[in-house]
Amino acid sequence: MKARIAVVAGDGIGPEVTAEAVRVLEAIAARFHHEFELVAAPFGGVAMDLHGDPLPAATLRTCLDADAVLLGAIGGPKWSSPQLKVRPEQGLLRLRRELGVYANLRPVSMHPALRAASTLKAEVLEGVDLVFVRELTGGIYFGARTRTATEASDLCTYTAGEIERVVRVAARLAMSRRRRLVSIDKANVLDTSRLWREVTERVVKNEYPQLQLEHMLVDAAAMHLIRRPRDFDVAVTENLFGDILTDEAAAISGSLGMLSSATIGGKVGLFEPVHGSAPDIAGKNMANPLGAIASAAMLLRHSGKFEQDARDIEEAIREVLNSGYRTKDLDNGNAKYVLETAEMGGMVEHALSEVVDRRRAYHAV
Ligand code: IPM
Ligand code: MN
Repeated sequence: MKARIAVVAGDGIGPEVTAEAVRVLEAIAARFHHEFELVAAPFGGVAMDLHGDPLPAATLRTCLDADAVLLGAIGGPKWSSPQLKVRPEQGLLRLRRELGVYANLRPVSMHPALRAASTLKAEVLEGVDLVFVRELTGGIYFGARTRTATEASDLCTYTAGEIERVVRVAARLAMSRRRRLVSIDKANVLDTSRLWREVTERVVKNEYPQLQLEHMLVDAAAMHLIRRPRDFDVAVTENLFGDILTDEAAAISGSLGMLSSATIGGKVGLFEPVHGSAPDIAGKNMANPLGAIASAAMLLRHSGKFEQDARDIEEAIREVLNSGYRTKDLDNGNAKYVLETAEMGGMVEHALSEVVDRRRAYHAV
């Protein structure tokens, strides 16, 4: 089977973790004779240095022509001066918008082997399995902005259509899981949130009557998320709330480095770890590549053709963690083996080949 994958690794630890995701994709391709055509393109701060634009036209073309986009991370101190007219983040926002990927899926679970890596109590974390669906191409991120020396404004707008389509993605996902959907808003204050609530209520009632729908105010949700995370199945929310709450939810998994994401709804899906470019540890070969590798698994899943490969990769990640291997961010002081970025990627590749061997042997008998 064939797939063309655009690889935009970006800045900071982006290239380091993406290289490990690519290694795993190449291993899968070699093993099963898939033809993955991986096309790298400059993006973010590095693209600003090269072409003066975080999303050069040629990079955008490469992404639009691909079946999927694998992204690393962008940004860093070199490109973050407030005086700069262009920032790497603008490239990311434009890419999301140009691809039309409005539904950002961010799964959060706690790997049992990482119980001790989280700052939350083990009994709170037991059995957590939730997915955030964050609206990604609307809201305050894309509204008109004004700025004078003493005044600034950012406009937040949502249309009923933008809300409907992301709620449908979340509702379908919830139907395939525990059938519980929480919609998070600030309807006691914001008009965009009152529209959000109204539309969500209507879509779920008319199209997904079997779903159990709950509305939650964002401040309360921030608290419930770490007090009783097990009660969440699928949570849908607007762009800014989703940004904040998914970083908070990362505390559950033990490290931001573990989380992966899939952004869908447009012509070409976008797959990226939830973490940023982490300039403080960039170039030190110590970043955690598991979020990037898990994002590659999500890429395979959402392409519709490689579900088994996605499962094998996820299983390989679990095995590696069960065997006691950790990167620095997952080490609470008593990790058995602390690996560098590339070693961790190599370990996943090795585990993957064992997972595949075992599965094949099982099916052969
Ligand atoms: C994320 C990031 C981005 C966002 C930044 C880098 C623009 O924090 O993907 O969560 O806010 O969406
Ligand atoms: Mn974020």
